[in-house]
Amino acid sequence: FVLVLDFGGQYNQLIARRVRECGVYCEVRPHDLPLDEIRALHPAGIIFTGGPSSVYAEGAPLCDPGVFTLGVPVLGICYGIHLLVQTLGGRVAAAGGREYGRTATDLDTASPLFHGLASTITTWMSHGDYVEQLPEGFHVIAKSRNCPVAAIENTHLRFYGVQFHPEVLHTEKGQEIIRNFLFEVCGCVGDWTMGDYAKTTVAELKEKIGHGRVLLALSGGVDSAVAAALLSRAVGRQLTCIFVDHGLMRKNEGDEVDQAFQGRDIQFVRVDAAERFLEKLQGVSDPERKRKIIGEEFIRVFEDEANKIGAVDFLAQGTIYPDVIESGLGDAATIKSHHNVGGLPEHVRFKEIVEPLRLLFKDEVRALGLELGLPDYMVWRQPFPGPGLAIRIIGEIKKEKLDVLRDADAVFRDEIAHAGLMRDINQYFAVLTDMRSVGVMGDGRTYDYTLALRGVTTSDFMTADWARIPYEVLDTISNRIINEVKGINRVVYDITSKPPATIEWE
Ligand code: XMP
Repeated sequence: FVLVLDFGGQYNQLIARRVRECGVYCEVRPHDLPLDEIRALHPAGIIFTGGPSSVYAEGAPLCDPGVFTLGVPVLGICYGIHLLVQTLGGRVAAAGGREYGRTATDLDTASPLFHGLASTITTWMSHGDYVEQLPEGFHVIAKSRNCPVAAIENTHLRFYGVQFHPEVLHTEKGQEIIRNFLFEVCGCVGDWTMGDYAKTTVAELKEKIGHGRVLLALSGGVDSAVAAALLSRAVGRQLTCIFVDHGLMRKNEGDEVDQAFQGRDIQFVRVDAAERFLEKLQGVSDPERKRKIIGEEFIRVFEDEANKIGAVDFLAQGTIYPDVIESGLGDAATIKSHHNVGGLPEHVRFKEIVEPLRLLFKDEVRALGLELGLPDYMVWRQPFPGPGLAIRIIGEIKKEKLDVLRDADAVFRDEIAHAGLMRDINQYFAVLTDMRSVGVMGDGRTYDYTLALRGVTTSDFMTADWARIPYEVLDTISNRIINEVKGINRVVYDITSKPPATIEWE
């Protein structure tokens, strides 16, 4: 077990994630965690995160100095190295300017921290303060052009500090540095797995929920599905999952959700609300209005069902760590009003929210889902917007249009799978435009809709590039759609990146 003490940096959970990737269990706790509690956790190592403060400023976050007397190895990152230095009698000062970005850094590879690394690597720097004077017993093990003290060590005490951020991917071999700290310095063995995570979390959920009742909105997406699987293992039939089928899902998707959960020992309610949604959406073509209507109607349907069940103790949500960060960006302009199925209802009575995936990243959630026995198609499902196909039909939504889009989208997905490209393209789907054009089929004139295909590669969905799908694959997709899906006589491929376009068309 490794303890990560949080000093408010933006990459804190990323550090935790890197540690877990090395097969070592870890938790992020507040910087002022009392010494008794730290001792009781028996950490094999302690990592101090970065943070926005200057360690010499008044009110800067500190930790109990007793941490340095436990005989436990410490790695201080960025603000963490400053804290280490200042507490142990060295000096930290403001640098002339900020050092920011990729930086060539020379390493002393004799240090266990840099075992097996090249003598110069690129690191990611982001700091305005620097270590001016080392505490006694320490020496420098890395430097860059602007930063004479880029890393330090005291092998006797097993204390280490790095000015750069090994946890971000911009730091070359950053993961190796963390691994070296864990394995070479702390003596961890790295045998922790997602199976262990499932076990621990299930035990914690059992303890927290007791005999209480839990309500969860299943959307069909990966996150809520994994949350449901986890909770079902923890509390079985105390869990009620409500799956609101708004009729805006892809082909067969509703039934697939059903299948994945039918066998489980939970209370599963599927609400067929397709007509209700269609009615509300009648005559509406403005994208924002569509989104608002669907978001509100979703909550209403969910509340209606929840009220049939009565008061519950917990409302569960499949919030994952990137959602937590994104909702923190309060000032970001609203490009689209995102709605996550499962947004908070106002009239459902519950005491507390449980978010068992709050600390995990998407790929960790997937690994956990597989661990919990969810089917591949569910775990590897690509992201799907809460408002569903409604924002992939330009203009007014009609039942017939939904069916056309569902069929075309199914062909697209089928051919991408056939070409083995499923994991290479991060999101791909069809959009039904409201443009009709003239075509010829057999001997007759047609006047039908144009279908757009969209495929993107991205790691965070904030920016994206259009996917280079091979021409032959596009050719097969186009032919099949025109031949198999009535109502479409033209297929186009969207070659716009994000920005300036967004991934969805509405
Ligand atoms: P955009 O279109 O904004 O999409 O580039 C970025 C990612 O977000 C998904 N998306 C949504 N997801 N509720 C969601 O849960 C929404 O309202 C929503 N709108 C877009 C989109 O599919 C893409 O993955």
